Amino acid sequence: MGVPTMSLVFILLAVMLQQMIQASQEPACHMNDLTALKGFTKCLEQDIGGWNWSSSNCCSFTGITCDNSSVIYGRVVGLELGNKRLTGTICESLVGLEQLRILNLSLNSLHGKIPANLFRFRNLEVLDLSNNYLVGPLPSAIHLPSIKYLDLSKNYFSSFISMQFCTSSSHIQYLDLARNFFGEGSIYLENCTSLQYVFLNGNGLSGTFPENLFRLQHLRVLHLQQNQFSGPLSYGIGNLSILVELDISLNDFSGSLPDVFGRLRKLESFSASSNRLTGLLPASLVNSASLLRIDLHNNSLDGPIRINCSAMAQVTSLHLGSNNFQGPVPASLSSCQSLTVLHLARNKLGGVVPFEFRNLHALEFLSLGNTSINNISTALEILQHCKNLTILDLGLNFYQEEMPSNVNLQFTSLTALIIPFCHLRGSLPIWLSSSKMLQLLDLSWNSLGDTGKFNWTRKPCPQNCSTETALLKESCEHISLIKSKEQGRPRLVYDNICNFPPTIDLSHNKFTGPIWPSFGNLKNVHVLNLEENNLSGSIPDSISGMTNLEVLDLSCNNLSGEIPYSLVHLSFLSVFNVSYNRLYGDTPSGGQFMTFPDSSFDGNQALCPRLVAPCQRKQIHPVVSPGKKMKIMDWNFGIGAAIGFLLCVFFCFKSGWVIPKGRVCRC
Ligand SMILES: *[C@@H]1O[C@H](CO)[C@@H](O)[C@H](O)[C@H]1NC(C)=O
Ligand SMILES: *[C@@H]1O[C@H](CO)[C@@H](O)[C@H](O)[C@H]1NC(C)=O
Ligand SMILES: *[C@@H]1O[C@H](CO)[C@@H](O)[C@H](O)[C@H]1NC(C)=O
Ligand SMILES: *[C@@H]1O[C@H](CO)[C@@H](O)[C@H](O)[C@H]1NC(C)=O
Ligand SMILES: *[C@@H]1O[C@H](CO)[C@@H](O)[C@H](O)[C@H]1NC(C)=O
Ligand SMILES: *[C@@H]1O[C@H](CO)[C@@H](O)[C@H](O)[C@H]1NC(C)=O
Ligand SMILES: *[C@@H]1O[C@H](CO)[C@@H](O)[C@H](O)[C@H]1NC(C)=O
Ligand SMILES: *[C@@H]1O[C@H](CO)[C@@H](O)[C@H](O)[C@H]1NC(C)=O
Ligand SMILES: *[C@@H]1O[C@H](CO)[C@@H](O)[C@H](O)[C@H]1NC(C)=O
Ligand SMILES: *[C@@H]1O[C@H](CO)[C@@H](O)[C@H](O)[C@H]1NC(C)=O
Ligand SMILES: *[C@@H]1O[C@H](CO)[C@@H](O)[C@H](O)[C@H]1NC(C)=O
Ligand SMILES: *[C@@H]1O[C@H](CO)[C@@H](O)[C@H](O)[C@H]1NC(C)=O
Repeated sequence: MGVPTMSLVFILLAVMLQQMIQASQEPACHMNDLTALKGFTKCLEQDIGGWNWSSSNCCSFTGITCDNSSVIYGRVVGLELGNKRLTGTICESLVGLEQLRILNLSLNSLHGKIPANLFRFRNLEVLDLSNNYLVGPLPSAIHLPSIKYLDLSKNYFSSFISMQFCTSSSHIQYLDLARNFFGEGSIYLENCTSLQYVFLNGNGLSGTFPENLFRLQHLRVLHLQQNQFSGPLSYGIGNLSILVELDISLNDFSGSLPDVFGRLRKLESFSASSNRLTGLLPASLVNSASLLRIDLHNNSLDGPIRINCSAMAQVTSLHLGSNNFQGPVPASLSSCQSLTVLHLARNKLGGVVPFEFRNLHALEFLSLGNTSINNISTALEILQHCKNLTILDLGLNFYQEEMPSNVNLQFTSLTALIIPFCHLRGSLPIWLSSSKMLQLLDLSWNSLGDTGKFNWTRKPCPQNCSTETALLKESCEHISLIKSKEQGRPRLVYDNICNFPPTIDLSHNKFTGPIWPSFGNLKNVHVLNLEENNLSGSIPDSISGMTNLEVLDLSCNNLSGEIPYSLVHLSFLSVFNVSYNRLYGDTPSGGQFMTFPDSSFDGNQALCPRLVAPCQRKQIHPVVSPGKKMKIMDWNFGIGAAIGFLLCVFFCFKSGWVIPKGRVCRC
């Protein structure tokens, strides 16, 4: 063999060897990329799991993709480190990954400014920096000619040179700038003509509806909610003919809704809640064949609710609450057979629940609170036929009517029944025994006086009550119901009743007699509120069986006796109130009781202080705080006071306390 042959063999061998290596391993990464990545990690405050610098092949690192086929063999094309708990800043050296196509650093805790040269990747198609703490204006020199997907949402960015961006990045399809501080400049996207998804919500943007968006013929989803846009809504919206989702809620738009929905033939979801819209529902809206979800709550819309269910056969969710709609609850809605969520609360409707509502078989959520409807018996008779009804709010209606006691009423799917502020007379609804899924019972602020034959043995909600669909969850977020916050201390307010803990609220009624010992069976109840009734007798020891109790309010009743010591075993109890009763004796001093404020025990003149601090309970005034009932000193009370005093004196001495000068043990 001659030398040339030898060389040939050698070359062949080398080529084969290289191929073998390539076949058996990931490609070895390019030196430039390795350097860039080393630089990138210098600005991070911790090591990245799965990155082993002893190996120089960065292509094998977690979250890195290298090209393994083409001319740029071995170049890093993907850096995906979403949700990796990264902290620190983004180093400029990252720019060295010049072949990058995907960069995902979302859901980390990166902070600081973006390096001026970062946005200069020729091939970058996907850039996701969402959910970090990045600040400042975006670099003015943006050169991302291949970008299709840009998500900068949920950061603290403050300005975006949108005109220049759209000139150089005209192929972008998905742009999410939501929840930043881009409000300082206007955003012009008219030359980003391929855009399909635009999220500008939560930025403090102002001015009129950005009409430059009407040029975006491919737009499918547009979110402008939670800004400060104002002025009327333009007919130009009708240009967005393939729009599927439009959300302009929580702005300051005024005037009437333009009659353009006939042109928006793909629109499925429209939300314009919490603006200052007035006037009637446009004909094209109530006849839209595509709309599935309409949310117009908290505006000043008026006129009748004239949804044409023949046209809108598919509609699943209608939220028209808190407007000035008039006229009876429309019976024709019962032809919307897919209706799952119907929210008409706080309108001036009047009349009764229409008989035809019994046909709303898909209905899961119904709110008719504060709509001036009457006849609760009829309402419940009809609605029990809606077998999927899960959440029912009828509060602030039926003034002074009688709570029906018809044992045949059946609400088998109900998880929440909310009928407060109605001054309803009669007894606790025995028919609720059929509602085995009940999680939230709010009958507060009525005049119910009789517990009747209500069976508290049943445990509400045996296991998991999270049967609600996503749609239902969404609508629950909007039910901020009626409960007052005043009276000096926080009260329950339903911001999202789907996430509400299992609750029984029978406060502000006329219940008398002792607290039912069988409450102790309700092991899953988290909130029990019996405030301001006429309950008497002592607090049953069995309450300590409510092992998940977080809030127990028994204030403003006529309860006497001692607080059962066993309550210290309620280890989740965080709010406890027995003020304004006739309790006496020691206050339990273990467990959660160490954390309750003195005000939890106010107005029980014979209750001993908790033995946490020296015996210096604040002066007890015989005056009653606003909103609290005056307790009249009577014979029972006298006994209680005497016993309480004796016990306290006994305890003070037993525990060896020396009463300091000037301090008196007032029990
Ligand atoms: C890091 O890489 C070196 C060399 O390839 C190897 O010996 C070592 O086991 C690796 N360490 C870890 C933790 O994977
Ligand atoms: C390399 O190529 C193979 C086969 O074409 C493919 O399955 C693999 O995902 C590629 N690896 C990388 C890192 O691109
Ligand atoms: C980025 O990573 C996060 C977390 O892994 C993921 O949820 C998100 O979908 C990714 N973004 C893109 C555009 O793929
Ligand atoms: C969009 O592009 C056109 C033509 O190039 C140009 O005249 C116009 O000023 C651009 N608009 C914006 C907002 O940059
Ligand atoms: C609506 O679209 C047409 C062409 O499709 C265009 O001429 C018109 O300017 C657009 N209107 C608005 C307000 O952008
Ligand atoms: C109702 O809308 C107004 C703005 O029109 C807003 O200030 C207010 O917070 C909204 N209320 C609710 C309960 O969403
Ligand atoms: C309701 O919709 C149907 C079907 O689209 C239509 O024929 C009817 O005219 C509409 N009724 C009203 C009052 O607009
Ligand atoms: C009622 O709910 C059940 C269970 O979620 C569902 O399968 C059924 O289709 C619903 N009924 C209607 C009429 O939507
Ligand atoms: C409710 O309606 C029923 C049936 O129409 C009627 O018999 C009853 O008297 C009404 N009750 C009240 C309180 O109006
Ligand atoms: C209450 O309900 C429980 C369980 O369903 C049952 O065992 C008990 O007999 C009932 N009590 C009364 C008084 O109906
Ligand atoms: C309760 O729901 C959660 C989440 O939906 C699920 O992970 C869990 O297994 C459920 N528990 C029971 C007892 O069904
Ligand atoms: C009930 O509705 C009226 C107007 O319809 C409104 O003024 C009032 O504030 C509402 N009450 C509650 C508690 O929402």
